[in-house]
Amino acid sequence: MSNTESKESTIKELLDLSGKVALVTGCTGYLVQSMCRALAEAGASVVLADIPKMMERAQELANSLPAAGKAKHHCVELDYMDYESIDKCVSDAVKMAGRIDILVNAGYERVTSDWTDVTGEQFTRQLTNATGCFLLARRVRDHVIERGGGASIINIGSMYGIVASYPDAYVDVPMASPVAYHALKGGILSMTRHLAIYWADDGIRVNCLSPGPFPAPTVDPRMIERLSSKSPMKRMGKPYELKGAIVFLASEASSYMTGQNLIVDGGWMAW
Ligand SMILES: NC(=O)c1ccc[n+]([C@@H]2O[C@H](COP(=O)([O-])OP(=O)(O)OC[C@H]3O[C@@H](n4cnc5c(N)ncnc54)[C@H](O)[C@@H]3O)[C@@H](O)[C@H]2O)c1
Repeated sequence: MSNTESKESTIKELLDLSGKVALVTGCTGYLVQSMCRALAEAGASVVLADIPKMMERAQELANSLPAAGKAKHHCVELDYMDYESIDKCVSDAVKMAGRIDILVNAGYERVTSDWTDVTGEQFTRQLTNATGCFLLARRVRDHVIERGGGASIINIGSMYGIVASYPDAYVDVPMASPVAYHALKGGILSMTRHLAIYWADDGIRVNCLSPGPFPAPTVDPRMIERLSSKSPMKRMGKPYELKGAIVFLASEASSYMTGQNLIVDGGWMAW
């Protein structure tokens, strides 16, 4: 699919993921389900990874994804808190799908305690999500080196890895912007840049996709109202509004892009 002087790929060819395999963690998440659909709609086989208790839901999702041509979707267990599961997830994914070309590090275990009451153990556990993302990315890199060719790794960050939250948006509602989450997402962004530089020579691109406010409809409506009033577009993002960005970063359409952070936030950070 590479562009030469005599032949330039069309934009459809650049965005086409036919024949590629994407491993996606946290697949049953509110936003991640749309990302899985986007990758499948672009032609990829998707290996849907999630914690053991979400496997039934993951399988339902896998069954519902479109499968173009020879594409086939699979499910694997993965828990960032359990390092053994990370090695096993990659081995299982390669056994089932034959290879991995794209990794989306999207899952995370939540923490709900904020700066007032978070314990040292809870804070460290939240940061362990970053450890898990790193160990999984490194394991995928080893696989790519072994099989030859390149890969695209996409770490899912957040606007809260870059900017602080407005404290008044979270008064008297369940905490949705805890300090340990900010530390986690800031770390994910920094790690993205580091790995991008070290792995560029291996043909492995590493980028971050940072969503802005995309609260699930189940969250306290007061929070949605407050956040909407602070957004230039006066509304929250919808999961499908990340589909273009994930396919762009996964595909050859972003082939000269690594170590970057793609922000999709309805203009939140442009004020
Ligand atoms: N929803 C938003 O407003 C928003 C905003 C900015 C960034 N993000 C980021 O986007 C990504 C997806 O968000 P979402 O709203 O779909 O999240 P979600 O909370 O709906 O889903 C999280 C997923 O992670 C999985 N998970 C839980 N513990 C795990 C563990 N130990 N190891 C691996 N996976 C685990 C869950 O089972 C679930 O599938 C996350 O990385 C999140 O931080 C979300």
